[in-house]
Formats: sequence, C-alpha cells, structure tokens
Amino acid sequence: MLRLIRPGYLSVSRTPTLYKIIVMTTLSAPFLLLTISGLLIGMLTVPGASAQDHPDSEEIARYEKILLEGGHSEEFEEARLFLNRYYRSHVTNNEENVPDYKLPELLISDDGRVIESAEQWADLRREEILKLFKENVYGKVPGFEYEMAFIERSADRQALGGLATRKQVSIRFHQNGKELPENLTIDLLIYLPNHTEGPVPAMMGLNFYGNQTIHPDDGIHLSTKWMRPNEDLGIIENRATEKSRGYYLDRWRVEDVVRRGYALVTAYAGDIEPDDPSRMRQGVRYLAYGETGEPAADEWGTIAAWAWGLSRMLDYLETDDQIDYERVMLMGHSRLGKAALWAGATDERFAIVVSNNSGSGGAALSRRRFGETVGVINTSFPHWFANNFNRYNGREDELPLDQHMLLALIAPRPLYVASAKEDLWADPEGEFQSILWASPAYELHGLEGLPVSERPELNKPVMGSIGYHIRTGVHNVTAWDIEQYLNFADLHFN
Ligand code: GCU
Repeated sequence: MLRLIRPGYLSVSRTPTLYKIIVMTTLSAPFLLLTISGLLIGMLTVPGASAQDHPDSEEIARYEKILLEGGHSEEFEEARLFLNRYYRSHVTNNEENVPDYKLPELLISDDGRVIESAEQWADLRREEILKLFKENVYGKVPGFEYEMAFIERSADRQALGGLATRKQVSIRFHQNGKELPENLTIDLLIYLPNHTEGPVPAMMGLNFYGNQTIHPDDGIHLSTKWMRPNEDLGIIENRATEKSRGYYLDRWRVEDVVRRGYALVTAYAGDIEPDDPSRMRQGVRYLAYGETGEPAADEWGTIAAWAWGLSRMLDYLETDDQIDYERVMLMGHSRLGKAALWAGATDERFAIVVSNNSGSGGAALSRRRFGETVGVINTSFPHWFANNFNRYNGREDELPLDQHMLLALIAPRPLYVASAKEDLWADPEGEFQSILWASPAYELHGLEGLPVSERPELNKPVMGSIGYHIRTGVHNVTAWDIEQYLNFADLHFN
C-alpha cells in the first residue's frame, strides 16, 4: 500500500513485510540505472560539474581500494580527497533524485525466521543486528584492560544563584596499575537541582567545545584540551578561551533542566577522543592500541569511542547516589547524536535516547542518498567509522543494514528523533522514514512505537514509545527542542 503524502513522492506502507519505498518521478529511472552500475558517468545533470567529477569507474575503484587499506599514507590522503570531491559532486537535496530502494528486513533473522516475539528479538535478532553494525559501520571495541578512578574536583551547593549544586568529577584511566597521561581524563560537569531530594533522573550528553560552553557560570573549569578551531566561539590555536563561556547556553538550558527536577550531566567529547583523524592516541582508543597499534577494519572509530566514553560516564553515575542512573536520558546533537544512538544501542542501561539532527550515520536512512551520503561522510571524516564502512561508499544498496535497524536497537526503551526543516544535509525525511520502519520493533514488545504513520506538521511533536518532531529552522538544538525532550522524559519516567 503506497500513500501519497506530498506531491512528487510516495510514503511507505506500514505493513512490516512490505519494506518498499518508491519514488515516482521521471528522473528516478536514469538515476537508478546510474546507481546500479556504480559508474555515474552520465551525471550531466549536476550543475557546475566538471570533467574531474566524472572519473571512470576504474579510477574510482583504484582509489576506493586505497581507502579500504586504511592507514595514514599520502596515498590514502590523495584517495580520500579525490573521492570526497567526487561524492560531494553527486550530493542531492532534491527529493526527485532519491532512488528506488528496498530496506533490509528488520524482523526476519539471518536464517529466514520471522521474528514474532520480544524474546526472539532479544535472544536472536537484536544480536544479529548489533553485530552487523559493529562489523560494517561503527566498529567493535577490542578487548583491553583498564581501571577507572572517579575524582571529585569541586562541589558548589550555591551554583546558579542557589538553584543548583555544581559538581565537577574527573574520570581518570589507569592501565596495568599505571596512571595514564593527563589528557586521558573525562571531566564531568554535573548540575543537580537543589529543590528536590535525590536520586534524581538526569539528562546527559556530550558537548562540542568544552563544559564551559554550556553556561557562563565562571565556576566551570575551562577545558584545556585540543579542539577543532572555531574563532566565533573563541577557540584559538586549538584551545578554548574565556570567550567560549556560555556560548551554547541555549543548547543546554541548564536552568530549565534543573527546575524541572533533572540533573544535567555533560563532558567534552574531545576528552574521550579528539575529533581529528590524527589524534586517536590522545583519546580512549589509546587504551586499546597504545603508541603503535592500529584498529582493524572492523574495529571502532571515533563515534564508537565517544559511545564507549558515554558508557564510562554512566559507570560513574552508578556510583553517585544523588542521581538515579536507571533514569538517564541520553541526548546528542549531530555527530554527537550519532554517538548517542550508538551508545544507546550498545549499552542498554541508557533509559531514553534522543537523537537531535543526527543525520547520516545517525537516524537517517542511508539508502535514500539524500544530503550527506555514505561516500561523503566517510571521506570527510575518515576517523568516525570502522574502515569497513568505506565498502559502501556509493554502494548503499549493498549495506546489509540500514539506519532504521540502529533505531530499533533502542527498543523497547523510549527513543526520540528530532529533525529541523532546513537541515537538509541530515535528511529530515530520511530520519522520519527511519523511525517509521523502526517502529515494528516496539510493536513487537506490545508498545505503540511511533504514534503516527505520516510525518506530522512542523513544530507538532508526537510522543509514543517513539517521539518525533520536525521543527522550523536550521541544524541546531533549541530551547524548544530541549523542552520537548523533558516532556518526553516526564512522560516515561513519571
Ligand atoms: C557535518 C557532518 C555531519 C555532522 C555535522 C555535525 O555537517 O557532515 O555528519 O552531523 O557536521 O556534527 O554538526
């Protein structure tokens, strides 16, 4: 059953066995042909495309082979840049260019069994899907020994004018009894509401440029870690300056969170691992590879490292009796939304997971190839995923999974996916289709899943076990977004 929901394209039937989406346009036939052939020679429709954007298939295959070999050679860098330019020249923001595609079956096991119960899901299908994502997308965490120490650095009961208690706690890593370099420290910033008795539920998430960016509160330690440059924010020579204090006040809304009875817990993602292809050893992957080792093709990239770090933060929360670690809502924006989803998939202690504009490699379906594609993301951020993910550059149909299956790994725990209308790079429609097709995993548990079958109007949240909204505006986290997440948490925690 296909339903027309917007002029120019059709939405999917919700019959779980009929995973098929057809795009009805005159342009789709040639586009599909090109995708299948993998050649893309005839992309004359791309405005401004030059001859360099149409390399022959042999050249592409040669460069793709170099990417798959991994490493840090000049050859690798040349291949990456070449392919990045190539994949970027084929990006589309036009729904008419979305090819026909067929999603892999969510509820059919590898050996063809139809999954009909929550038990079968937990014992069989969930494990299969998790394995697929580990091997092909985010990478496995290899075995290694480590110990952690939790050190309370400061506690102020009169923070935010008496509204909250601010605690700063460091997670230090040790290996074989030896303390590791100072940069291997995750500095947690925690605000606890003063008006309620603990243990309180928490909203937790990683931040992009240090804890001091979430609030102008001058008691927050200024991060001293390496950061991506950002002059507007006051990140000068890869270090945070005082100017960055409170820059992201509106993304975190600390007072609102605390007033509603939640603790807010955050850490700088770069404390777990810097967001840079050459800095793996300054982060937690050092624990696995030391000074010289390298991840195998199916082992973790930075997103999985961030997710691993989020789990260590939750380990700390288990020891903090002011916070109810069984009621933690994990929220992540954009690349950190991808990490939040993967953390929620790999660690079932996270009670609620929120993906804010996570897009490609996050909530959005890869097969739609709308906005950022697999080829673009892998060649722009070569450190984010397992090297194996490169196998699917320009070959999304060969993926043994799609992102609806990642979302389904959160089931039966509540999941919220949010998009922004103008954030086409993250493919809002692909994010919506993805939760639609994840919903059967919730229904299997006797839950409502997504309460609608068609995309709701702008700024009209829907909340079942799956929550969703698409708001007006651009790629960002707004006060309104946070308000919806807190409403969702109230709904499920109270
Ligand atoms: C880039 C990247 C996205 C990512 C975003 C972000 O736009 O292509 O995949 O989500 O950065 O993290 O803000």
